[in-house]
Amino acid sequence: MNLKGRSFLKLKDFTPEEITYLIELSAELKAKKKKGIVHDDLRGKNIALIFEKTSTRTRCSFEVAAHDLGMQVTYLEPSASQIGKKESIKDTARVLGRMYDGIEYRGFGQKIVEELAEYSGVPVWNGLTNEFHPTQMIADMLTIQEKFGHLKGIKFVFLGDARYNMGNSLMVTCAKLGMDFVACTNKNYFPDRELVTYCEGVAKETGASITLTEDVEIGTKHADVIYTDVWVSMGEPEEVWENRIRDLKSYQVNQKVMDNAKETAIFMHCLPAFHDLETVIGQQIYEKFGLTEMEVTNQVFEGVQSVVFDEAENRMHSIKAIMYATL
Ligand code: CP
Ligand code: NVA
Repeated sequence: MNLKGRSFLKLKDFTPEEITYLIELSAELKAKKKKGIVHDDLRGKNIALIFEKTSTRTRCSFEVAAHDLGMQVTYLEPSASQIGKKESIKDTARVLGRMYDGIEYRGFGQKIVEELAEYSGVPVWNGLTNEFHPTQMIADMLTIQEKFGHLKGIKFVFLGDARYNMGNSLMVTCAKLGMDFVACTNKNYFPDRELVTYCEGVAKETGASITLTEDVEIGTKHADVIYTDVWVSMGEPEEVWENRIRDLKSYQVNQKVMDNAKETAIFMHCLPAFHDLETVIGQQIYEKFGLTEMEVTNQVFEGVQSVVFDEAENRMHSIKAIMYATL
């Protein structure tokens, strides 16, 4: 399997075999790290990280993974660089491509990261756009693989805002890997029709299935994985909270949802999560709307079925694999 020189912009660009290879490579690099085996094979290389939106996991994963691989990192904050205001993405791409071996980009439209890849001449990794969050996919699939020993045939249920980066990416990934994907949410939050049609086509070849339902009891019945994400994503205006809460509150992951799934089911979330009042936004929402928990209850988040911190750790191992494979 040779992915050298390829960008990692969205899962649609990769075959099931290539995705499986990245999951396996992540597991291999994770095992090496646990055993204390040095793997700084990319010594002498330099990467740039551009973050137009905030991050904890993705930024730290890229930095730690790069250091483990022997690489140097430059963190670029748009407010402290020329990006966007004085220099176009096309020009930025051509400058950074002359200096760096690879570039990570987190920001708004998918078009921006695609343009960066087109003009930089080096691998570009999508660290999250409005439409897709591909590096998260490899971590999530590695986590499911670790818990169940396989991916094919897993019933994967996503509750909440399924038409944004997480819902879109998970549906594509499940389709590619022969899993049974369910978007269980208010119909206004189903993934984009065109993407659903694409995934249905992929599913025919892989043995996957795609289901969209508003019924929580039917949707989550016999589920292996219950997954959710924040109801309002980075970059969305504050005003949307009110409608979002109204539309999505019946799709909150609570113990009743977990009890309706298989006994062996796991709970996953890309994080950060609003499961208590220990955040500024959590507190503001409580004061305005009276909610103490949002997309997931604290009981489920802290419960024995929750694997969210294994998932967060796997971000680092999988981002390392993505860089290792493409550089
Ligand atoms: N899951 C995720 O991408 O986390 P960050 O926003 O902290 O990078
Ligand atoms: N949908 C979320 C994902 C965060 C990892 C967002 O875009 O804010």
